[in-house]
Amino acid sequence: MSTATEKQFDQGLVNTIAAETQMSFIDGEKGVLEYVGIDIDSLARHSTFEESTFLLWNGRLPDAAELAGFETELRAEYALPEGLIAMIRETPADASTMHVVQTLVSALSLFDPECDDDSPEANIRKAVRLVAKTPTLIAAFDRHRKGKEIIPADSNRSIASNFLWMLRGEEPTETMVRALDVCLVLHADHGFNASTFTSLVVISTLSDLYSACSAAVGALRGPLHGGANEGVMVMLNEIGDLDKVDEFMKGKLERKEKIMGFGHRVYKAYDPRATYLKTFSEGLARDTGNLPLYEMSTRIEGIMHDAVASKGIFPNVDFYSATTYWSLGLELDLFTPMFALSRMSGWTGHCIEYLKDNKLIRPGAAYVGPHEVPYVDLADR
Ligand code: CMC
Repeated sequence: MSTATEKQFDQGLVNTIAAETQMSFIDGEKGVLEYVGIDIDSLARHSTFEESTFLLWNGRLPDAAELAGFETELRAEYALPEGLIAMIRETPADASTMHVVQTLVSALSLFDPECDDDSPEANIRKAVRLVAKTPTLIAAFDRHRKGKEIIPADSNRSIASNFLWMLRGEEPTETMVRALDVCLVLHADHGFNASTFTSLVVISTLSDLYSACSAAVGALRGPLHGGANEGVMVMLNEIGDLDKVDEFMKGKLERKEKIMGFGHRVYKAYDPRATYLKTFSEGLARDTGNLPLYEMSTRIEGIMHDAVASKGIFPNVDFYSATTYWSLGLELDLFTPMFALSRMSGWTGHCIEYLKDNKLIRPGAAYVGPHEVPYVDLADR
């Protein structure tokens, strides 16, 4: 049995490996990300969100029949329970989108009779529901808050196409669908990031997938994690013009403020997801009249390169996601929900993988408070 003195204090768990996984591999020094051994660049170019999710969950690419079968399973679960739609209609229109996502992901449990069935088969069915229904609940809330009719899911469409359809009620272009799909592939999994680890802490108590994933949404919303993509866009809007980038950045760097969309706990080289998104977002920004945003971004990147690349700080996935989502016409507060929608695939996959050899996650604490303090009666304090 280990004692407290044998345990290593590791603030932020920077040097702690908490479990094994076969889902994604990151080499932070070389800037490599693989899903089950396949590099992220190949997946971004050739795969789809559905196929990448199958890969992450099953440890291999599907054949054509398996992929079609998996897509059919997902599409059959797009629709929301009536009770959840009623809840959405009662949600305050000005509620923060990530709080809404967290609440509604948790509320899905109320309508799933399998919620507490922790057999592997039931967990896979719940994972399918979570991945399939999260886009629907995000789009439904967005319609509701704008006073528009909620558009039912269309089970003839892919997840990316269906999401854009439900959001706008207009046929999305192929370019838009592809752009969103690429973002979903790139965000689907990333080792034991803060939100994935949160989901593992919850599932390790033998709680349920809905509890694990709603907790993960809560972890994701912070600006040091998934909330950074929104932070990037706020910054770009605040700067407003290419001519103002240098002065803005000078002030930020002098005040030693963090620049959203830069730096990473694991990558000390260029985030490979950012490499692909940078090129991709340029084309999209050009096609949609948003090239100035892209130009501001590359200027910021150049300044950051001169200032902090020597410290291993480069753009992360969130930096060029901002231009991509904006060019897709998504509102600012839908950026982080897009991340949640995609990472649902990673959270559920990791929880199911972890349960195969479950161990309660319960680290020690380094107590630094006093000891042997006498209790003083209330009247004598
Ligand atoms: N801008 C300027 N300086 C930075 C930045 C940044 N974005 N990120 C790190 N640094 C500096 C930091 O000031 C510190 O400098 P010094 O050693 O001189 O004090 C050093 O780099 C180490 O930073 P840290 O915050 O201690 O490193 P960390 O590993 O704890 O944090 C991070 C990683 C992602 C929280 C951090 O880089 C950050 O806050 N970035 C901005 C937020 C962001 O873009 N988050 C999205 C991460 S990628 C998507 C995801 O997985 O969620």
